Amino acid sequence: MEQNYSLESVGDTATRDAVEARPDGKKVFVKTYGCQMNVYDSQRMSDALAADGYAPTERIEDADLILLNTCHIREKAAEKVYSELGRIRQLKQERGALGRETVVGVAGCVAQAEGQEILRRAPAVDLVIGPQTYHRLPMVVKRARGGEKIVETDYAIEDKFEHLPAPQRKVVRARGVTAFLTVQEGCDKFCTFCVVPYTRGSEVSRSVAQIVAEAEQLAEAGVRELTLLGQNVNAWHGEGADGREWGLGELLFRLAEIPGLDRLRYTTSHPRDMDDALIAAHRDLPSLMPYLHLPVQSGSDRILKAMNRKHTGDDYRRLIDRIRTARPDIAMSGDFIVGFPGETDADFEDTMRLIRDVTYAQAFSFKYSPRPGTPGADMDGHLPEDVKNERLQALQALLLEQQRGFAASLVGRKLDVLLEKPGRQPGQRVGRSPWLQPVIVDEKAGEIGDIIRVRITDAGSNSLFSEPVF
Ligand code: 5AD
Ligand code: SF4
Repeated sequence: MEQNYSLESVGDTATRDAVEARPDGKKVFVKTYGCQMNVYDSQRMSDALAADGYAPTERIEDADLILLNTCHIREKAAEKVYSELGRIRQLKQERGALGRETVVGVAGCVAQAEGQEILRRAPAVDLVIGPQTYHRLPMVVKRARGGEKIVETDYAIEDKFEHLPAPQRKVVRARGVTAFLTVQEGCDKFCTFCVVPYTRGSEVSRSVAQIVAEAEQLAEAGVRELTLLGQNVNAWHGEGADGREWGLGELLFRLAEIPGLDRLRYTTSHPRDMDDALIAAHRDLPSLMPYLHLPVQSGSDRILKAMNRKHTGDDYRRLIDRIRTARPDIAMSGDFIVGFPGETDADFEDTMRLIRDVTYAQAFSFKYSPRPGTPGADMDGHLPEDVKNERLQALQALLLEQQRGFAASLVGRKLDVLLEKPGRQPGQRVGRSPWLQPVIVDEKAGEIGDIIRVRITDAGSNSLFSEPVF
């Protein structure tokens, strides 16, 4: 169940044909690790580089510029980057022997957290750039091509989004009918296990005007489903068009007015920032999808306190009740950590009980991984790997049972599916249910970008099967 959070995508190859190569024919290969925000950032970096003449390539060996957009959330994620850099060193040497220069860059949260250390550990790297300075990337790449080694990890005073070029319309189209839009970055919550407040900095919200303009551009280019992103997305706030202070709920009401944006989502949220306006948005906005990723991490009040979550298990249960009263068909998703320092069998049982009480349609679960510089890493009572493994297995078995139960409950029901891409088999398309499950649809039922009504005929382990309803 970890896969969505250790997602590795080779960035943005869909835009390859949409970006016109310049005569000097430079190519960039971007590999993305980690969360959806990194996927969005990789796209914005590709857009900035495209404006500078770099066309995306899927083939790393053809790339004049290799960028790894990295994740630091758990130790495994960070280590993967270093092993990839080992392979890239070899490739750089081979290209060098053929007289072809390769610039290697590390972006994202490992870049921010480790800075200079990356140049020491991985000599193939030419540039290290943190998430707050992506607008400087084209300039940094030019300097690296001139032979400089560069570490650019300060928190820029200027607004990077003001300086990043908007993607071209045809690039947006090539990326498909769903899109991400970062509205908020950083986190002030300081959960004791988490590196995010250190790698992404304190909470910053983008302005309503910037968000609305970007959402309108995306909709105009054919995007039907928009997912608002933020490390703590429901902490977003800003001055609204009416001069009042808005929260995410009010922002969603505004975005729902944009023609063409038929589906809205947001991720990731903190239980303490679910305010009344946001719950009202779930009640009143048909385009806000009935699916909510709301991590709780643990069901034990003692561990929640040690994690500095500032809520109890019952606070969370009551909150879910309020959300379900507002939107009865909402399906829940969450994140769980097992084996936090000091977690006893009884604490773990509390987590299992909370999962049974809430019932999740989907969830992500992780073994606690001590992150240098976070308070959790220095706590007493670290647990042995085998205890963590055992608990993770039990927890994942329960979550999988719930996920299958939810999928099975949809068989026989009619629902709306957004058609996203061709299927693996001829004659099929793949769409998304309101609850993010892939749905296999007959291609005659509609075109990519259509929202069509289907009846679910069967639930497989990863997707739903359907027949059109006319
Ligand atoms: N160890 C394990 N899991 C972690 N997460 C964040 N930090 C850690 C860590 N140190 C998980 C949390 C978070 C998700 C993005 O990753 O569950 O919600
Ligand atoms: Fe990390 Fe907690 Fe902030 Fe989420 S709310 S990004 S888990 S510190």
